[in-house]
Amino acid sequence: MKKKKIVVLTGAGISAESGIATFRGSDGLWEGHDIMDVASPEGWAKDRELVLDFYNQRRRNGINAKPNKGHITLAALEKYYDVEIITQNVDHLHELAGSTKVTHLHGKLFESRSTLDPNLIYPVEGTELNLGDKCEKGSQLRPNIVWFGEDVPMMEKAITLTEEADFFIIVGTSLQVYPAAGLLHYVPSHCKLFLVDPNVPKGIDPSKIKVIEASATQGVPELMDYFMKIDHI
Ligand code: APR
Repeated sequence: MKKKKIVVLTGAGISAESGIATFRGSDGLWEGHDIMDVASPEGWAKDRELVLDFYNQRRRNGINAKPNKGHITLAALEKYYDVEIITQNVDHLHELAGSTKVTHLHGKLFESRSTLDPNLIYPVEGTELNLGDKCEKGSQLRPNIVWFGEDVPMMEKAITLTEEADFFIIVGTSLQVYPAAGLLHYVPSHCKLFLVDPNVPKGIDPSKIKVIEASATQGVPELMDYFMKIDHI
């Protein structure tokens, strides 16, 4: 029998308890940098070394991170539901937790890609990507990250998944960055919505979304209890 579909939109908050800083918290990940200097095509054109250093540092901070109960619980739900994760995160903690269907809207930290041909994508071994590291066609490699001002190629797939959702869960995102935040507009009318976040983002209407005001490691297992009690097929 066909399993019901749960689509989960995650943001930096789900990885916070794994030791990865969020973007807009007080210890925000931009670390004193102007966002446009380290995460935009203009920043890349201005100072490639600064951009590469910024992501090398993020890899060093993230390489030993382990999935937490939030990621692990979402992976466990796959036994009972058709779970699709749409993440804004560039870490691979959902995959490490065992989720098999993960769509990365903003790219992947441990991948590089050619500046000549966006289809040439390579794993970053270890943490460092340096000036002079080149693709097989001889052009400089850049982080495989979707920067501000760039297209979000996975958005079309994310919209299709959202349109098919029976349940839509939002975990740990301030919903400030588009187009990801706009996915909410594609949720079908029969779909039940949930949100897990210790700080409820502005504009959330609690009459339409069941809000669990808690951290991911507490709130996601709470949701799991709910999903185990209802019919999942
Ligand atoms: N559990 C759940 N949520 C948490 C936790 C936690 N332990 N700690 C913090 N949060 C919440 C915050 O309350 C906030 O709502 O996570 C959210 C993090 O918001 P942002 O820092 O804005 O991160 P995010 O929404 O993922 O940012 C979106 O912005 O700069 C870009 O590309 C970057 O993908 C990123 C995008």
